Amino acid sequence: MSNAQSNTATNTPNNAIKIQMKNIGKVFETEELETHALQNIDMTIYSGDYVSISGPSGCGKSTLLSILGLLDMPTSGEYFIEGVNVTSLSLDEAAEIRNSKIGFIFQSFNLIDELSVFDNVALPLRYSSEKPTDAQINKRVNECLEMVGMSHRTSHKPNQLSGGQQQRIAIARALVADPAILLVDEPTGNLDSKSGDMVMDVLEELNNKGTTICMVTHDPRYADMAKTQLKLLDGAILQSPKVAKSIRD
Ligand SMILES: Nc1ncnc2c1ncn2[C@@H]1O[C@H](COP(=O)(O)OP(=O)(O)O)[C@@H](O)[C@H]1O
Ligand SMILES: [Mg+2]
Repeated sequence: MSNAQSNTATNTPNNAIKIQMKNIGKVFETEELETHALQNIDMTIYSGDYVSISGPSGCGKSTLLSILGLLDMPTSGEYFIEGVNVTSLSLDEAAEIRNSKIGFIFQSFNLIDELSVFDNVALPLRYSSEKPTDAQINKRVNECLEMVGMSHRTSHKPNQLSGGQQQRIAIARALVADPAILLVDEPTGNLDSKSGDMVMDVLEELNNKGTTICMVTHDPRYADMAKTQLKLLDGAILQSPKVAKSIRD
């Protein structure tokens, strides 16, 4: 992403950068073989950007998303979240940053069936080190359910909702602790195309209101909806994506 980086040095304030990866590599080693899953990954994600990462099966998308989300560490290079070098953190420190800075959305929703919609969305706040009051939790959960158009379903259980509705609840849960970035892994993989399109509309609307998003998808139609499109092949970025001018300036 050399365009983006040279821009960083000239006219983009540092606080507009959410994510920066410098020469990130990941090697998986087993007894018989070494897999170079990622190599020389340089990327910058600006506040307000919507980045898609696409490419064929096995090209390194999930590995990259795991490293972005501090679920795994790179074997080389440096990674910064909001200016903090997270490459050298302990597991505990990484978990703390993950909980406060990253919102995850997975293909499989990962909602808890026994809990109501409200309680699913409230969960990250109840585990937050900031210990919000019940009134604060109530306000924030309702705000987030409103943002995804689901405030009329607070007492339902996940299995009383359609797949598309469940994914919208998962998006509300990912947003509730006000993360620096939403990391989204194949959000429509388990949905029919109509529900998939609705979920993509919600993501686009959130991005229009300022949420920074990075999404992995193998669906070219959805990859094209992002402002910055990054293509991976054999663990490397295939082409320098264009960062939308509105994001850089
Ligand atoms: N835990 C692991 N151990 C060994 N090899 C792995 C591991 N995870 C992924 N890989 C390998 O790294 C490469 C990239 O995998 P992955 O990131 O899952 O690709 P994608 O998500 O694009 O399909 C593949 O060759 C895969 O086999
Ligand atoms: Mg994958």
